[in-house]
Amino acid sequence: MRILLVGSGGREHALAWAMAASPLCDKLYAAPGNPGIAQEAECVAIAASDIGGIVDFARREKIDFVVVGPEAPLVGGLVDRLEAAGIAAFGPTAAAAQLEASKGFTKDLCADANIPTAAYQRFTDASAAKAYVQGRGAPIVIKADGLAAGKGVTVATTLAEAKAAIDEALVQGRFGGAGAEIVVEEFLSGPEASFLALVDGTNVLPLVSAQDHKRVGDGDTGPNTGGMGAISPAPQFTPDIEAAALATILKPTVAAMAARGTPFKGVLYAGLILTRDGPKLIEFNVRFGDPECQALLPRLKSDLLPALIAARDGDLRDFDLRWDARPSVSVVMAAKGYPGEPARGGTIEGLDRAAADGALIFHAGTRRDGDAIVADGGRVLNITALGDTMAEARRRAYNAIAKIDWADGFCRRDIGLGATA
Ligand code: AMP
Ligand code: GLY
Repeated sequence: MRILLVGSGGREHALAWAMAASPLCDKLYAAPGNPGIAQEAECVAIAASDIGGIVDFARREKIDFVVVGPEAPLVGGLVDRLEAAGIAAFGPTAAAAQLEASKGFTKDLCADANIPTAAYQRFTDASAAKAYVQGRGAPIVIKADGLAAGKGVTVATTLAEAKAAIDEALVQGRFGGAGAEIVVEEFLSGPEASFLALVDGTNVLPLVSAQDHKRVGDGDTGPNTGGMGAISPAPQFTPDIEAAALATILKPTVAAMAARGTPFKGVLYAGLILTRDGPKLIEFNVRFGDPECQALLPRLKSDLLPALIAARDGDLRDFDLRWDARPSVSVVMAAKGYPGEPARGGTIEGLDRAAADGALIFHAGTRRDGDAIVADGGRVLNITALGDTMAEARRRAYNAIAKIDWADGFCRRDIGLGATA
C-alpha cells in the first residue's frame, strides 16, 4: 500500500515509525514531516493545513490510505475531501471533529446523552458569564469554545482570575473566533488519565491508558503546555475505571454521534478526571494525543496499520490489539522559553548515542541544517523507553537524555515519578 501521513510533530514521528514497520506499507510519504520522520518516510513539502495540496498529491501519487495526525486539518474537512475524491483516510469528518473543535458542542452532547462531565454553562456575553461565576464561586474553569492550541483553558483559583479569563476571551478577543464563546464549568479534582480508543463509526476498541504531564515545571508547576511527557499506563486507571469510562463516556458518545448522522471514525481521545464519583470527561480530542502517542505506540505489539484501516472501513468489531505489558515513559525535551517564545536554531548532538541503549528518539520540532539537526520549535524531541517497571523505564529514558548535547534544551525531571506499574 501507498500511505500518506499528514503532520510534522512527535506524534507523527511515532506514527511513521509504527506504520513503516508494517508489512502492508510499500511506500510511506509524510506531508510535511520532519528530519526524524524522514528516516521512515519520504517527506514532501506540503503543509498539514494545505487541504487542497494534500488531496492533489494523494490523487497524483495514487495514495491508498491517508493518516491524519493533527486536529486542524480534520476540523477543516480534510477527510471529507479525501473520501469525496475516492481516497481512503483515517480520521473523523469535519462534522464528527466538532467533538474537539467546539467544547460547547461536546458539553451539550454530554448533557443530552447523560455522559458524566463537569456542570457547565455556555456564554457569549461577559457580564452574564461573570454573574454565573459570582454565583458559583472559585475554583472554577473557563474554556474558550474553539481550538486554541492548548492555551484556551484557565483553571481559576479566585473569582478575579476567572473574571479576567472571561474578559480575555470575550472582550479582548485573545483567542479570536475560537474564544467568541466560552464554556464555564465546575472544577473537578482527582488524577487525570488519557483514554484513547479506535472507533469505526460504531465499534470502540480501547487502547492502553496514558497520562500526560501538562505543566511546564517539575511537580506540576508553571504554565500549561501542550504536554511535557507521558507515561503508559495511567496510574490509578484500574480495569473497573476503564470499564466505567467505556460504558458511560466513550460508547454513549459514539452512539450519539451515529444517531445524529455524523458517525465518528478515527481515534477518540477522552481526557478524564478520576473523581470519587467515577471518571468524568474533561475534553475530547479527535486524534492521537501528543505526547501520549509517543508513549503508547512503542507498547503496541500488533501491526498498527490494519487497525487504522479497520477503523476507516467500519471493521473493528472483532479486532484485537496486543500490548507489551511493560510500562513506558516518554519525556519531552523542549527549547528554553517554551511555552513562550522558544530558542531556535541550537545544534543538537548525540542522538545516535542516546538511541544506542534502545530508547526511541522521536523528533517533534527539529530542522536539518546541512548535516546538523537543529531545534526548530517549542517541543523538540520525545525520548521514549520501556522498562519492567515504571522506575526502570524512567531510568532508561533519562539515561538517553543525558547523552543528548543541546545547550538550549530542557525537560521535566519527574515524568512518571511516583507512578508504579
Ligand atoms: P484541556 O485543554 O481541556 O485538556 O484542559 C487543560 C487542563 O486543564 C486539563 O488537563 C486539566 O488539568 C485542567 N482542567 C480542564 N477542565 C477542568 C475541570 N473541569 N476541572 C479541573 N481541571 C480541569
Ligand atoms: N497531550 C494532550 C493533547 O494532545 O492534546
